[in-house]
Amino acid sequence: MERKLRSFANKASGILDIVGLESAYWKTKQNSFLTTFRSLCRTALTEDRAIITPWQVAGKIDYEKLIEQFGTEPITEELLERFKHMTGELHLQLRRRIFFSHRDLNWILDVHERGERFVLYTGRGPSGPTTIGHMVPWIFTKYLQDRFDTKLYFQLTDDEKSLWPPPGMSLDETKFWTRENALDIIATGFKKGKTLLLADTLCAKTLYGLAVEVAKHVTYSTVKAIFGFEDSANIGIIFFPAMQAVPAFLESRLVGKNVPCLIPAAIDQDPYWRMTRDIAPKLGFFKPAQIHSKFLPGLLAGGKMSASVPESAIFTTDGEKAARRKIMNAFTGGRATVEEQRKLGGDPEACPIFQYEYFLFEPEDSKVEDVRQRCLKGELLCGEHKEMLACKVVDFLRSHQERREKAKEMLEEFMVTDEYFGKKP
Ligand code: TRP
Repeated sequence: MERKLRSFANKASGILDIVGLESAYWKTKQNSFLTTFRSLCRTALTEDRAIITPWQVAGKIDYEKLIEQFGTEPITEELLERFKHMTGELHLQLRRRIFFSHRDLNWILDVHERGERFVLYTGRGPSGPTTIGHMVPWIFTKYLQDRFDTKLYFQLTDDEKSLWPPPGMSLDETKFWTRENALDIIATGFKKGKTLLLADTLCAKTLYGLAVEVAKHVTYSTVKAIFGFEDSANIGIIFFPAMQAVPAFLESRLVGKNVPCLIPAAIDQDPYWRMTRDIAPKLGFFKPAQIHSKFLPGLLAGGKMSASVPESAIFTTDGEKAARRKIMNAFTGGRATVEEQRKLGGDPEACPIFQYEYFLFEPEDSKVEDVRQRCLKGELLCGEHKEMLACKVVDFLRSHQERREKAKEMLEEFMVTDEYFGKKP
């Protein structure tokens, strides 16, 4: 099967790459998934587009096209100006267009301007260790929480990851990763008392009733169309999108009054929000607003950073040696020889080392620009640039890991259970 996959991957080269394909296969180890995956690839190839679903991301992503395909709005200069006017200096991820698309963001800003409150909602599928790629939208969410002083619902979908992609993990495994991921979430710096980590199976009583109300309004043919489920999909995952909709409405239900909700998340989660927005008015709730981010690329050629391909990803728990090794082995698309590199220059857009600086590790815009220029002109060689980045990443990991240790004592304060909500929803 692996050989078959590789030969398929070779044929698909240009748009898709081996890393994306392999990771999808290894995640599932299931032939039925491979069939679906192949047909997705075929479509993508003929339509010349990347594959983006809530479970996999492969290919060269054209974010402008995604805005069209998903029917979202671009974040315009005008909107950024408004944001700046309200919050002061724009966050790096807004300035650099890492958050690039939205729905109803103006409405959320209106709400805030009127002095009314809104809540934030984001989440994580606990299927493995946290990578620094996962942290990109979390860092931005923390910024939003700080700036707007909001409550944050953070869902951990231990149920989802046990159901999908097939064969899924055992619930014990996803619960294990829930705790591990929660430590990284807490270490990101969210506000205690204003941040509720909801693991689905620990908050089942609280979430289930609302999920049933949601599910009642969503037909099988709708989820099939939105998520591409085939007849072989288990019935758990067909229901699951209702669970992911719930935190968008939870605050409204708890306080008995509609409270607007903004969801910062990577663009691959958008199918869930299309469904959630569709049914919101039927239940008398506001449609949740969204702000969508791009993906941090993996260290190997193409695809996003993926926990299932360890060398493509920096884990938050990586030691100095592992982090350095992965960075030094990264695929930069550099030229064959130093002379060529000096003469022809590099391609920062396609290079993960540059992208890591851009997404996370170089706070100053003028320095990022300088690095870009020096790379383009062949002045900054890949080896040198890798060394530079490795130092920054190691520093980041060191302080993150200290906060992560401290988070162990705070787990109980952040992770809520049904008892916390009492009999309310
Ligand atoms: N489905 C998401 C994942 O697999 C987890 C998730 C649940 C989520 N609720 C969310 C992600 C809200 C972003 C925002 O990772």
